[in-house]
Amino acid sequence: MENSGEMEKVVAVIMVGGPTKGTRFRPLSFNTPKPLFPLAGQPMVHHPISACKRIPNLAQIFLIGFYDEKEFALYVSSISNELRVPVRYLKEDKPHGSAGGLYHFRNLIMEDGPSHIFLLNCDVCCNFPLPDMLEAHKRYGGMGTMLVVKVSAESANQFGTLVSDPVTNELLHYTEKPETFVSDLINCGVYIFTPDIFSAIEDVSNDREDRANLRRLSSIDISTSTRTNIPTDFVRLDQDILSPLSGKKQLYTYETMDYWEQIKTPGISLKCSGLYLAQFRLTSPHLLASGDGTRSATVVGDVFVHPSAKVHPTAKIGPNVSISANVRVGPGVRLISCIILDDVELEDNAIVINSIVGWKSSLGRWSRVQADGDYNSKLGITILGESVVVEQEVVVVNSIVLPNKILNVSVQDEIIL
Ligand code: GDD
Repeated sequence: MENSGEMEKVVAVIMVGGPTKGTRFRPLSFNTPKPLFPLAGQPMVHHPISACKRIPNLAQIFLIGFYDEKEFALYVSSISNELRVPVRYLKEDKPHGSAGGLYHFRNLIMEDGPSHIFLLNCDVCCNFPLPDMLEAHKRYGGMGTMLVVKVSAESANQFGTLVSDPVTNELLHYTEKPETFVSDLINCGVYIFTPDIFSAIEDVSNDREDRANLRRLSSIDISTSTRTNIPTDFVRLDQDILSPLSGKKQLYTYETMDYWEQIKTPGISLKCSGLYLAQFRLTSPHLLASGDGTRSATVVGDVFVHPSAKVHPTAKIGPNVSISANVRVGPGVRLISCIILDDVELEDNAIVINSIVGWKSSLGRWSRVQADGDYNSKLGITILGESVVVEQEVVVVNSIVLPNKILNVSVQDEIIL
């Protein structure tokens, strides 16, 4: 095994879901697929993709989803050129589930004869320790290895929870989103598998087909057949593969002690933008802005400014600020912990704190858009949808504003529909 290490190819698959998923991300997912929403100035999916680049012998990266191909075409071609690794978007005709989607494209995924397949959820934020996982996986010698992390006992039931052997790291028990407490160790949505994963998925789907045939043949109990009527090609990785295969010496865990977040809501995306900006300090410091207010704006902490943005030298920006393309930041503007999306106009002395300002929105002179910064609460981050106008001197606090609204009076703790 060891001497073939140089030749072994590896591929990576990133599950991006589709428009019917990610509904908690509204209003920011109305016009932009959630995987392309910018965190630290780069599309969400860009972060796992650039982490894949560090995998030795990486042959290809596949994105699998049921969004329209044209939504991803531009990004996929530019990132392929930038990384010099082919990145392909594969569109499912309908959702097949997290394992069914992988199986659906097995022939394309196996095209280069890879020895290992990384599988990543696109909506997780971490430092993706992929080469270390590969090493650990080879040591364990199983079919799959899952990245796991400890979370608070109160939040564990929102995830796949598990028990693993403290010595061998074997996955002993796995329950997806349990109703009662199982463990504070959870599934991060980042895996590595050998190609045997395809046989495991096929077994589930064959088993379902057999049961469906049996029900069709038997005349008894129609209600049972409707109750279990999951399409045979719809296979969930968690319930259908990880749970039944745990405790069978096939699946292992690799624990990260570093940061990890699941990106389901706009509030958390602001937190993750900050985590990725902090990581740029170590991995890509050239992406971070600097300035002391003489020729360019005063920059505090980790800040990303798109090269096409125009920021007045009297503005003060940071920490945790990300400014996208064609934004105009006027004199005296103050920005703290926020994401400013493309084509936004911020007029003189506007202030934005703990907020996300949607594409093409504008903030008038002396206006304030702010929130208390509780990432987990529904109104803890103020969100302005696309093309929202905040008129001068208007104050918006702890609110969500849907696209195309004009605010000429101040609002607090409101959802403006
Ligand atoms: N292509 C495709 N097709 N992608 C899908 C499909 C599908 O039919 N269904 C889900 N996905 C993608 C989602 O976009 C997401 O990236 C990933 O697969 C997992 O989504 P869900 O199945 O909705 O699960 P979850 O996000 O609620 O929870 C999963 O991730 C957690 C970590 O973030 C589970 O694996 C949990 O156990 C885990 O803790």
